Amino acid sequence: MQYTQSIKAIRASILDITKVVDKPEDIEQHVRFIEDGLLLVDQGRIEWVGEWEEGKDKVPDSVRIRFYPGKIVMPGFIDTHIHYPQAEMVGAYGEQLLEWLNNYTFPTEARYKDRDYSKEMSKFFIKQLLRNGTTTGMVFGTVHPESVDALFSEANKLNMRIVAGKVMMDRNAPDYLLDTPETSYNQTKTLIEKWHKKDRLLYAITPRFAPTSTPEQLEMAHKLREEYPDTYIHTHLSENTNEIAWVKELFPEQDGYLDVYHHYGLTGSKSVFAHCVHLEDQEWDCIQETDSAIAFCPTSNLYLGSGLFKMQEAWKRNVKVGIGTDIGAGTTFNMMQTLNEAYKVAQLQQQKLSAFEALYLATLGGAKALSLDHLLGNFEVGKEADFVVIDPCATPLQQLRYDNSSELIEKLFVLMTLGDDRSIYRTYVDGCLVYERS
Ligand code: GUN
Ligand code: ZN
Repeated sequence: MQYTQSIKAIRASILDITKVVDKPEDIEQHVRFIEDGLLLVDQGRIEWVGEWEEGKDKVPDSVRIRFYPGKIVMPGFIDTHIHYPQAEMVGAYGEQLLEWLNNYTFPTEARYKDRDYSKEMSKFFIKQLLRNGTTTGMVFGTVHPESVDALFSEANKLNMRIVAGKVMMDRNAPDYLLDTPETSYNQTKTLIEKWHKKDRLLYAITPRFAPTSTPEQLEMAHKLREEYPDTYIHTHLSENTNEIAWVKELFPEQDGYLDVYHHYGLTGSKSVFAHCVHLEDQEWDCIQETDSAIAFCPTSNLYLGSGLFKMQEAWKRNVKVGIGTDIGAGTTFNMMQTLNEAYKVAQLQQQKLSAFEALYLATLGGAKALSLDHLLGNFEVGKEADFVVIDPCATPLQQLRYDNSSELIEKLFVLMTLGDDRSIYRTYVDGCLVYERS
């Protein structure tokens, strides 16, 4: 094999899930754990993965081997729902969704009209993702096109795979945050032309949620989707009971919340709906029939008191689900902490979330939810080389629990229960080292 100088050779334990599954019981048989493994990366792609002993002769003499003993290399985490402008308002006290939006969120988002501010906060946001091992996100900007320009240009400096979009919102928010059907169409179109498929960037048409868009604006979102069929739709759905009642008032002619989006042609395999906590049966049917995806946001759903997502219903119906931190209603950028809360959401419903299922949701399952599983989510040869080097024993307590756990699934479960940003030892994007824990 011929390698260029850009090749990277990583020696460590290697962990991924090799196949998209239809049932959680099937995940275990596709877990690949290589205790002493080698990962070869060339030009930002996975070139080879396997046992160190088998692969070591493939590493050219000129290439320095990065050896991480005791560490575990996993695919980078995929956050399927996050608001970058809300990083600065995590932990806003005392409200549920609609009051939280009015009292905290809208005033905060007003700041992103300013290009320089957006740039500064985009840099902060990307650093937060990387120090938490998250290499791909599906991201809300604000209503201001400047916010999305700034995010995309910062992400592009690292050649990250980011999906993002400008919020479309033309009613039921303060005037200073409103666009119109026409301006939202024109601004979104300009952003799509500029950023969609530029390197690894992708565009999501982003109506905030049904209450803040007029029917005319939803028509515009539909028109954009028709014009750019390979972009995404990213919005919120069925998060809070007052929100749902409000949607029914605002759109009496539609048969419930999801039917609003469906009516305007916004469901489909590249549509990602955040939350989906209170879906009715016919809404589950619609999600399933249209192959739409759900972002399950456990810390947010608990923090805002929204409710408990029914993961088992999603599996039963083979609906695609990824994990979202939903910063800033969510309380952490960290995927392990988010999975820890997902476990508790399951527990409150007398259900279980195994460590393998959790790992799947945060990696390959998330990639599938974003229709990116042909590019991301595991170490299949040819896929994009975004990965994280995990320290499973970052604290004395983690060391103790790690040492007294025997099976891999237990060690991983301890990691997802006790892990946080200290567990992230290194992060690689596009084959390049982009974060080192000090
Ligand atoms: N619904 C509409 N906007 C938002 C938002 O910013 N966060 C959450 N969690 N739900 C929303
Ligand atoms: Zn959200």
